[in-house]
Amino acid sequence: MCGIIGYIGPRDPLPILIDGLKKLEYRGYDSAGLCVKNGGALHVVKKRGAISDLESELRGRDMPGHVGIAHTRWATHGEPNETNAHPHLNGDGAIAVVHNGIIENYYALREWLTREGCVFRSQTDSEVLPHLIGHFYEGDLERALLHALQFVEGAFGVVAVHKDENRIVAARRGSPLILGVGEDEMFAASDVPAVLDNTRKVVYLHDNEVAVITAGRYAITNLEGAPIDKQIHEIQWTVDQIEKKGFKHFMLKEIAEQPESLRNTLRGRIKAGRIKLNLDVDPLAIERVIITACGTSWHAGLIGKQFIESLTRIPVEVDYASEFRYRDPIVRPTDLVVAISQSGETADTLASVREAQSKNAKVIGVVNVVGSTISREVASGIYLHCGPEIGVASTKAFTSQVAAMLLLALFLRQERGLALDAGLLESLAALPALAEDYLGEARDAFEIAERFQFAHNFLYLGRGLNYPVALEGALKLKEISYIHAEGYPAAEMKHGPIALIDHDMPVIFIATRSQIFDKIVSNMQEVKARKGRVITVLDEDEPNVTALSDYVIHVPRVREELSPIVNALPLQQFAYAIADLKGLNPDKPRNLAKSVTVE
Ligand code: M6R
Repeated sequence: MCGIIGYIGPRDPLPILIDGLKKLEYRGYDSAGLCVKNGGALHVVKKRGAISDLESELRGRDMPGHVGIAHTRWATHGEPNETNAHPHLNGDGAIAVVHNGIIENYYALREWLTREGCVFRSQTDSEVLPHLIGHFYEGDLERALLHALQFVEGAFGVVAVHKDENRIVAARRGSPLILGVGEDEMFAASDVPAVLDNTRKVVYLHDNEVAVITAGRYAITNLEGAPIDKQIHEIQWTVDQIEKKGFKHFMLKEIAEQPESLRNTLRGRIKAGRIKLNLDVDPLAIERVIITACGTSWHAGLIGKQFIESLTRIPVEVDYASEFRYRDPIVRPTDLVVAISQSGETADTLASVREAQSKNAKVIGVVNVVGSTISREVASGIYLHCGPEIGVASTKAFTSQVAAMLLLALFLRQERGLALDAGLLESLAALPALAEDYLGEARDAFEIAERFQFAHNFLYLGRGLNYPVALEGALKLKEISYIHAEGYPAAEMKHGPIALIDHDMPVIFIATRSQIFDKIVSNMQEVKARKGRVITVLDEDEPNVTALSDYVIHVPRVREELSPIVNALPLQQFAYAIADLKGLNPDKPRNLAKSVTVE
């Protein structure tokens, strides 16, 4: 986690660094800091809290210069405070470093450097970097960094400056880093949005690459110092795409964007009754599919399993990436491993990709962020094309992931010689328009939220394809409103959670039409009999269901395969509305970061 921006060029670095940090705030926001080099001196300012706190601290200060680095932090080692905020300096203050990642052997390095006379000021793992670089420094920052990195275990995106050198040196292993190429100026950053106001030209650094940037020039080498030629990519998104466009929060904007994001996910992929995907897999050779992901992406994986099994009869397993990577899973060359990740940077998902590849499985990614590490490490995959998702709570990425998993299942079915249901393809293609009509009108979830904003617990129940939607609804609520919520398969309720049900435990049923609709109605009766308050997501007026419901959230009737996408929409709105009513900022929930690039 953490966000990095560095600038070198003719302009005043301060506003560029602050703007860049604001675009990276989704990566962490417990403290921030920056360093501007002026002549032969490094000026460092750090502040606990959000970027706006750092900005206030800097108001009225003059920090001229042409080289600067900055950092927004999400704490891993050491509490969020000014001392632990980056940049960190070496002993004589000549070298400043910002770091994203975790130095796994920091303790041993710290002990050794302390014996060598270094004095540590913070509790962070990151502070070993400036001391280590300083230890090897003999007038050349690049050489010193290369030397230092030989001793470092773990993950890093690291950017460093020296008071006597007019250049920035950056390196990556495991934590994302890009270069922005401007006119007579250069940038280094954790992610593209940080530089997009200044340039659309970027270079993606890969693991174990080191970049030296000066005003208008860059040179990249491997860790042994051998030069590497890199391609410049032209970014197609607009800066407007990453702003709030008048919505109160990014999350609300991203909920509203789903017709467009779904359109983009489906674009060009359903043609003349066929599914077009460019995947480097042999569908006939696949004997099993393993889906690996975390959080919301894992929920999309659970839905994907049902799609693939029902449409292809290929057995599917779904694993938390964090479990998969460490349990020495049985993976065979005939397995197709599907890694789902919005960011493409989630450390556990990335590790599971590598684990599967090391066992010779075919691995594909279902990823949103183009150029992200997972997207680069897999041979092929499905980009979601949702545009940037800034709200920490995933919304539009989830519905696009579900759509992408349906496309994948349909593709595998088609390539295995089985007929596709033309009606399903038609409904899928029409889904963005339907979502647009629905979101334009839907108010139920907002109104019902007003009545439940003071509840302390919620139970979300669904079955079949909508059981993962129940999990997702509960995750959305707990992560942004801090209300305890659990998702359960509705029929499992009577094996335990039913004991919790009383007037104070609202139960949200996802009860849209399905093959097991009648079963879910029985589950509702069980809740009602215990005086539970029932909120039902319902796709048509069913008098017996309405009678069992205290409140109804209406959704349009769609084919069962598409119901997880439609049903997720009001649950996102409900979670958002509750968080907003409680005065919480859903874009920046406490303790959470958008992109979990550490274990
Ligand atoms: O970027 P990824 O899809 O790999 O992220 C996975 C999870 O960290 C993410 O879905 C998380 O659960 C979200 N905060 C959920 O809203």
